[in-house]
Amino acid sequence: MFRHTRRALLALAALVPLALPAGAQTYPARPITMIVPFAAGGPTDTVARLVAEAMGRDLGQTVIVENAGGAGGTIGAQRVALARPDGYTLLLHHIGMATTPTLYRKLAYDPVGGFETIGLVTEVPMTLVARKDFPANTLAEAIAIIRKEGDGLNYGNAGIGAASHLSGLLLMKSVDKAMTTVPFRGTAPAMQELLAGRIDLMCDQTTNTTEQINSGAIKVFSVTTPQRVAPLPNVPTSREGGLPAFEVSVWHGLYGPKGTPPEIIARLSKALQAALADPKLVARFAELGTAPVAAEQATPAAHRAFWQADIAKWRPIIQAAGQFAD
Ligand code: MLT
Repeated sequence: MFRHTRRALLALAALVPLALPAGAQTYPARPITMIVPFAAGGPTDTVARLVAEAMGRDLGQTVIVENAGGAGGTIGAQRVALARPDGYTLLLHHIGMATTPTLYRKLAYDPVGGFETIGLVTEVPMTLVARKDFPANTLAEAIAIIRKEGDGLNYGNAGIGAASHLSGLLLMKSVDKAMTTVPFRGTAPAMQELLAGRIDLMCDQTTNTTEQINSGAIKVFSVTTPQRVAPLPNVPTSREGGLPAFEVSVWHGLYGPKGTPPEIIARLSKALQAALADPKLVARFAELGTAPVAAEQATPAAHRAFWQADIAKWRPIIQAAGQFAD
């Protein structure tokens, strides 16, 4: 009798490792929420909506984008860090995930340990733009006005730690003159103020500026990447414009809450890779001056390594500036 029981138990034991956590077996069984930590209609939102739509096709479930803007992206990030780790709440965020750990010292969540990485998404160039009647037509002329007017100029950004804040810091450091910064919940509302002429300047991602620039609704002085950007062929690089130090681009990644089962993370990474190979997404990214990362970068390990390296890069810069958010 014992022999049979033992054999039966062994047969059973052999089956146990194969048993996936209940949720992973049928994942996804319902719509997924992708949190964007900035206002709707802005650059991060634009990237998220294209990725969400394409991932949803691969996963066979709707991926709903929800905007939770404010505090330089930390409000939305906190939502995900504290969410149930079941694969149904994700975060699409950018370079802000590399600066937040140093900039913010009193967060109610762990800005690194609170997350699983799923994969990198894209790296977007920035542009230095101005209201359409700003009295300059080249980067050199704009720099001269910034140096002359200083804090008499209003510079829009999306809060401390946002890409528009960091590149503003880099610009002001490069020209050695501070402007008055006006924070918003994202660069979408900041763009409305720029279009209305109520703020003077802003650095923002080509995913939010390309069409406004090409329609003539705003002025542009440079793109912050070493190479010019295809949909903005006449816009010089900062280097060409005489400000080589003003170079930055905005990487984006996808995250889940810490503890999300590895099988679900692997499924999401596979769906992200499929999304980044989607011809519709690739074409729209190109129209907006960017491109998906390579498939091997859209993996949890590559994302984690890139993120860790960028945290280490920004920490001494932020500490030297001594500009903490809290
Ligand atoms: C946004 O989506 O509003 C931007 O990414 C904000 C920023 O980081 O500048």
